[in-house]
Amino acid sequence: MRDDIKDILFSSGDIDKRVKEIGAQITRDYTGKSLLIIGVLKGCFVFLADLARCIDLRCEVRFLTASSYGFRSAPSGEVKIDRKIDFEVDGRDILIVEDILDSGMTLSTLREYIMECSPASIGICTLLDKPSRRKVPIQADYTGFLCPDEFVVGYGLDYAERYRNLPYVASLKPEIYS
Ligand code: IMP
Ligand code: MG
Repeated sequence: MRDDIKDILFSSGDIDKRVKEIGAQITRDYTGKSLLIIGVLKGCFVFLADLARCIDLRCEVRFLTASSYGFRSAPSGEVKIDRKIDFEVDGRDILIVEDILDSGMTLSTLREYIMECSPASIGICTLLDKPSRRKVPIQADYTGFLCPDEFVVGYGLDYAERYRNLPYVASLKPEIYS
């Protein structure tokens, strides 16, 4: 698996430090609120596992599943939400946790979907942000790292369902996905 890696962009130490900072900031910002964290599967699973343990608040953690169709290293533009909201959102302060904000299609679709359930607020927390790739206007409230316009894997992010278990974020050798 490690033979397929080109460069490590964010080491496990970098991520650990940043996740603790974001967790502390979320703790401060949501003190006294009714925090409901919604993780976007599958990419969020590693990030959220670490982040949730750095949030020192009474909160609820739920999940939704979103996917763009097919195996690809470029988004297809169609977003599918595979799980219905079967929990109380009305009047809650929602924090959506995602692995990466790229074109923005996934998060804007999800945000609209959650908005229909009348939350008190919706915030967005993403591990990575590729602002140069945005197709729809959307910004995160909490961002781990700005990411260069390269396809990255690891720490939850996949290519064709692989590499999610790498403890760092890395780019792949071009021959792997070409
Ligand atoms: P968006 O809808 O274009 O913002 O894309 C968001 C989704 O595409 C993320 O949740 C990821 O699952 C996937 N994605 C975008 N860029 C990458 C990447 O560099 N590596 C792995 N997955 C990516
Ligand atoms: Mg994802």
